[in-house]
Amino acid sequence: MESTHCRIVVLISGNGSNLQALIDASIHSNFKIAVVISNKADAFGLQRAQRDNIPTEVVEHKDYSDRNEFDRALMDTIESYSPDLVVLAGFMRILGAEFVSYFRGRILNIHPSLLPKFPGINTHQRALDAKEKEHGVSVHFVTEELDGGPVIAQDRVQVSSDDSASSLAEKVLEKEHLLYPKVVSWYAAGRLKLENNQATLDGSALPEGGVQVHP
Ligand code: GRF
Repeated sequence: MESTHCRIVVLISGNGSNLQALIDASIHSNFKIAVVISNKADAFGLQRAQRDNIPTEVVEHKDYSDRNEFDRALMDTIESYSPDLVVLAGFMRILGAEFVSYFRGRILNIHPSLLPKFPGINTHQRALDAKEKEHGVSVHFVTEELDGGPVIAQDRVQVSSDDSASSLAEKVLEKEHLLYPKVVSWYAAGRLKLENNQATLDGSALPEGGVQVHP
């Protein structure tokens, strides 16, 4: 892979603020967004891409009879852009085993919690309910286990007594927007790999929580 031309495909379902962070970073970074694909035609992120003349595609699950058919259509659309990396950025569909194994080691996700805490949805409310003092974001390789692949990097925020789920989401999103472009650029530079189900950076295995970006 030529480091200046890592082609990424970004999958979204909604607002696309992480997509925006990737678009902004790509101007001065070592990766290029080849296409943005949404499983929802009205995802605002599609407009963000179009504003920057980035190609967009919509692959809606409701147009397919079952999950495997949808996954295959998505796979074909992705492959038609010959990407080096698939980046899930607020993509709200669970991908099947065949899809995940096809892209193994070439697909990343961002998740708004300090994994392995709070996989799944409603992470901010769950962190509040659990009276966590710290919360944050993880970027990880995607494997068959939902939000369970090897963590590459995390950043954290303090939870204050007056935080609500939405104030916490806002704080975490700020960190997400810094973290995701950074991790994608590591991958683009050939520094980040998935080897024997272990994330490695510059040839060294990363610890369980990945690189801790926050001091
Ligand atoms: C983010 O919190 C991301 O971590 C999660 O979904 C949300 C997407 O937000 N996977 P946006 O669409 O990037 O604004």
